Amino acid sequence: MTQSPAHDPKTFRVKSYGCQMNVYDGERIGELLGARGMTAAGDGEDADLVVLNTCHIREKAAEKVYSDIGRQRRDDGTTPIIAVAGCVAQAEGGEIARRAPSVGVVVGPQAYHRLPELVARAARGETAVDTDMPAISKFDHLPRRPVQPRPSAFLSIQEGCDKFCTYCVVPYTRGAEISRPFGDIVEEARALVEGGAREITLLGQNVNAWTGDDERGHGQGLDGLIRALDALPGLARIRYMTSHPNDMTQGLIDAHRDVPSLMPYLHLPVQSGSTRILKAMNRSHSRESYLEIIERARVARPDIAISGDFIVGFPGETDQDFEDTLSIVRETRYAAAFSFKYSPRPGTPAAEMDDQIAPEVMDERLQRLQALLAQQSQAFNAASVGRTCAIMLERTGRKPGQLIGKSPWLQSVHLDGTGLAIGDLVEVELVSAGPNSLAGRELRKVAA
Ligand code: 5AD
Ligand code: SF4
Repeated sequence: MTQSPAHDPKTFRVKSYGCQMNVYDGERIGELLGARGMTAAGDGEDADLVVLNTCHIREKAAEKVYSDIGRQRRDDGTTPIIAVAGCVAQAEGGEIARRAPSVGVVVGPQAYHRLPELVARAARGETAVDTDMPAISKFDHLPRRPVQPRPSAFLSIQEGCDKFCTYCVVPYTRGAEISRPFGDIVEEARALVEGGAREITLLGQNVNAWTGDDERGHGQGLDGLIRALDALPGLARIRYMTSHPNDMTQGLIDAHRDVPSLMPYLHLPVQSGSTRILKAMNRSHSRESYLEIIERARVARPDIAISGDFIVGFPGETDQDFEDTLSIVRETRYAAAFSFKYSPRPGTPAAEMDDQIAPEVMDERLQRLQALLAQQSQAFNAASVGRTCAIMLERTGRKPGQLIGKSPWLQSVHLDGTGLAIGDLVEVELVSAGPNSLAGRELRKVAA
């Protein structure tokens, strides 16, 4: 920093909304501010700087930021420096500061490495806006990953999206799809493991489209990267999300059979079970090709847990199209899922389409879909009872002595354990299943 502002903020708070990529960005923003000498404000403490790391994927998510900006006013009438980061910042730019004058910084998802300088300008009373998508990667300007607060860490390996599904704002807010270099990812993974991470979830909007050259110059896909990370000592578990059906290579499916640290979990959004609607969504896969991928994944790894995303009420969706969605859910048998009402997003082709669906029709369809998906996840959990598996402990539970961890299939499992610590891998027998979690009985500690 060239010039020290009059009222340098000393403490900060970052609040992330939306997807895991935002959570990752929020963590890196915190690490960046920490490396510049600021400290995170404790729970309930006022912060000098509040970073709202926003999501633009649906209207509700985008509107939340304005009520949250209002909520930053303190009892004495003052406000912290407010920085709006993330996808709303990218989409709305300086308009945010005009609508909410208490906002001092607006910074897009590809420019947040410049946040300290922007905050310094805001501290001098300017409104600092940076929604550039610079050619130089922000990752080159961020500090090395420090000690991790949790054993499970996120690592973004790809930014942006080129798929242009007709409902989606991501290609506009996060820009073109770019894969981070192989060596940079391996180095960041190594830093995370040195900082205490035992599980890494590789992130990207289309993470399975990741490509890069390994250290010998050989072209690799996500499966090659996963095989390289599997060799890192101390890294026990690898996950990845979100995948696109069209980029689901046989190599990646085979990795689920061959790579011990790759967890048996595949998040593969289908959005709709109707090939007609999938076409209108520009998804470039069909109902049949999706089901065929699921079948191959189950051949490679019979216990693989499948999760997905769904949109109900896309323009033109008929009762029959919606029935097709219910039936693809029945055929796939999901372990977990996220489902949403279609939300028209400014600038996307679907927002201009005829036949927008009435809100009450969407409500009714969403309820029916969610009831079916809840039934399926409960059935998946119930079928896990009696299984023996390793749990990675992530946090303490509410009851004394209780610990909570994740199964290979990403289920929350609680157990009572003494002599165990966060980050431990414990072999358990799954003894009972509730609607959202399972209970495990400790058999033995696998690794510390
Ligand atoms: N309306 C509703 N849901 C959407 N998603 C993306 N765009 C929209 C939209 N305009 C959902 C998709 C995607 C998930 C991250 O959010 O299901 O997979
Ligand atoms: Fe959006 Fe489709 Fe890209 Fe996913 S694949 S981020 S839904 S455009």
